[in-house]
Amino acid sequence: MVKNMKRKVTKAIFPVAGLGTRFLPATKSIPKEIMTLVDRPLIQYAIDEARAAGIKEFIFVTSRGKSALEDYFDHAPVIEAELKRKGKKDLLQILKATDMESGAIAYIRQQRALGLGHAVWCARRLVGDEPFAVLLPDDVIAAEKPCLQQMVEAHAETGGNIVAAMEVPHDKASAYGVLDIREDMGSLVSVKGMVEKPKASEAPSNLAVIGRYILTPQVMEHLHRKKPGAGGEIQLTDAIAEEIRRSNNVFGFRFRGQRFDCGSKAGFLQATVAFGLARDDLRDEFEQFLFGMTAMRKAAE
Ligand code: UTP
Repeated sequence: MVKNMKRKVTKAIFPVAGLGTRFLPATKSIPKEIMTLVDRPLIQYAIDEARAAGIKEFIFVTSRGKSALEDYFDHAPVIEAELKRKGKKDLLQILKATDMESGAIAYIRQQRALGLGHAVWCARRLVGDEPFAVLLPDDVIAAEKPCLQQMVEAHAETGGNIVAAMEVPHDKASAYGVLDIREDMGSLVSVKGMVEKPKASEAPSNLAVIGRYILTPQVMEHLHRKKPGAGGEIQLTDAIAEEIRRSNNVFGFRFRGQRFDCGSKAGFLQATVAFGLARDDLRDEFEQFLFGMTAMRKAAE
């Protein structure tokens, strides 16, 4: 049993079947996960983070209208041939980052958007009897050591379930799943409960869960029996809360890094600025522009 708890995490689920309504009309025809921060789609950041953490099998839970995502990880023979002909080695190299080993990537359909918990459950047969990671691509995390890698290292010590968590202002807690803390050990927190989108006055702490998880197969079993929770959706949080009650083996993990909520417009814009400024080829021009904008605004005030 203990051996099973500390099995290596090599599978990751990417739930990408949501409707992305906060980005309408764009998401009428473009999957949210294909929208770009500078020149890379959100999904590429999540894949790179998973790879750095040692993930070998990538499971996408998709839905109708997401075929652009599947194409993104396919070969692009026409573009590649043209770049080769023109000797554009640097661009060919950039394209290479999107290569996936044959058989490493699997797509499962979620026929109806019944919630994140339901999307994760759709991947149950591919996950089998192993611990697995879940990454929500609209949470983009800038970090020296990628967030999931930090979590995999912590998991090698703790086993069980780990959810990424960060402190948020109390009045913002109702937008998140929130942890009820049993013992605070610094970066790790042992958890005695978890509530999805609590009223601000009822939030058990201000430690909010964000879109990175390492979970045991038992969580899939809880999802199997789940009925819709907050917002009429089948909530992953409810299944994790049940696992806390059953096994007492759930930890919150304060990751080191900056998380951007790219599922919201304001978060997406902030991430665009941060990732633009982080790029050597863009920094100077972009910084000058932002500086000029700020000066103009101040003058206008
Ligand atoms: P969100 O709560 O951000 O929902 O889902 P959404 O549909 O993507 O976007 P909005 O709120 O309508 O703008 C969080 C993550 O869970 C996935 C989403 O694709 C996203 O990665 N999800 C959500 C599913 O895969 N299926 C669902 O039924 C719901």
